[in-house]
Amino acid sequence: MKHEIDCIVNDQAHHLTVASHETLLCMLREQLGLTGAKNGCATGECGACSVLLNDEVVNSCLVLAVEADHATVVTVEGLADEGELSTLQQSFLDHSATQCGFCTSGMLVAATALLKQASRPDVNAVRAGLAGNLCRCTGYDDIVKAIMAASRARRT
Ligand code: FES
Ligand code: FES
Repeated sequence: MKHEIDCIVNDQAHHLTVASHETLLCMLREQLGLTGAKNGCATGECGACSVLLNDEVVNSCLVLAVEADHATVVTVEGLADEGELSTLQQSFLDHSATQCGFCTSGMLVAATALLKQASRPDVNAVRAGLAGNLCRCTGYDDIVKAIMAASRARRT
């Protein structure tokens, strides 16, 4: 069964036709070409598919596209401002917080939400904020350092 939905993705309005079983992740990647959110596990375990849905971090592999009807979605592609990296994105670069990069978009989305909730989180709060995002490369330390530095810069 098909459904018509209206949503705002990265500040752009979309009218889309989605299947009942279609996930938000599929809709973003295959209909809108926003491939920043990754399909790692498709079971809600890894966080590589993290996006903001009405300002809340969700695993887009577990959210149906129809749930985005009349909602606002932000993906990693929406974090930069007119091509200028956010402070958090720049901090990931500065701290070498990326290796293979598969987890990075989800990490950036989760950390952006974290820094909106707590402007100066401590290390434990940062680690807790990333609890739903797995990284098999970095050992997390450089990611945490990047987020802490961005929080000190007071802009995400
Ligand atoms: S792909 Fe969604 S949580 Fe892993
Ligand atoms: S950088 Fe490779 S999974 Fe995180």
